[in-house]
Amino acid sequence: MKGIILAGGTGSRLLPMTRVVSKQLLPVYDKPMIYYPLTTLMMAGVRDMLIITTPRDATLFRDLLGDGSQWGMQFEFAAQDTPRGIADAYRVGARFVDGDHSALILGDNLFYGQGLIRTLRDAAAFERGAAIFAHAVAHPERYGVLDLAPDGTLRDIVEKPASPPSHLAVTGLYFYDGQAADIAAGLAPSTRGELEITDLNRAYLQRGELQVHQFGRGIAWLDTGTPESLVEAAQFVEILEKRQGFKIAVPEEVAWRSGYIDDTQLLRLAEAMGACDYAVYLRELL
Ligand code: TTP
Repeated sequence: MKGIILAGGTGSRLLPMTRVVSKQLLPVYDKPMIYYPLTTLMMAGVRDMLIITTPRDATLFRDLLGDGSQWGMQFEFAAQDTPRGIADAYRVGARFVDGDHSALILGDNLFYGQGLIRTLRDAAAFERGAAIFAHAVAHPERYGVLDLAPDGTLRDIVEKPASPPSHLAVTGLYFYDGQAADIAAGLAPSTRGELEITDLNRAYLQRGELQVHQFGRGIAWLDTGTPESLVEAAQFVEILEKRQGFKIAVPEEVAWRSGYIDDTQLLRLAEAMGACDYAVYLRELL
């Protein structure tokens, strides 16, 4: 399974913070935002990833993440020249995906909770079609929303509906089989001029090949696209990390626990960061 992190966009809701730097490079408490979706994909078992950024920010992402080998991963980079929509990830990434199964995650989405890894790995183990995740939210009108029949079967997914048919929003994590790039190539832009991920998901639904998994209350799903949600996500991470003594979304730790890097490599990564709290944490893992 290949992975795509979509980390472009305009970040207009975070201006002026995003005037000169990508939203996904801003901190969420003690690490760059992109570490959260990155480690989510790592925990889903993905080692081969494409990171899609704006042309402006490409160098910064390369400087931050390198080629992935330091974490036993493999990273490639591609630029999306304009924010043409989330499904555009499969146009930009068609050659990278090359007909394989893939996972797509939005660069500003944070997932955390008990059983998350098992849920992701189970959901990723399909042969054909697509798997997406729904989570109950207070304001579904900002998202793609599930329209369910009385017996619970999925009738449709509606993008940013004025009157939402349910409170179940589609999260920014998607698994697709090898058809995704071909289907995305045939999508037309929506009225707001974007290639909508909801249209890609609806295409799978119409083929009878879309599985929807529901995250329960034990899983936190946050996006970090507004000043308020960015602060809330940072506070969430701070409270969890201080209380439990474990950090969340540390790529070095996930790589080490997954056996991608050994003790010596972890120690070397810690040493390269000096005496900061993050480096102390890496040393304490050993
Ligand atoms: P959004 O939050 O919908 O858009 P944005 O990041 O441009 O922010 P704003 O609405 O404040 O202008 O994007 C969700 C995620 O997807 C985010 O991580 C950026 C990414 N994205 C792209 O990389 N390319 C795109 O064309 C779009 C629409 C989003």
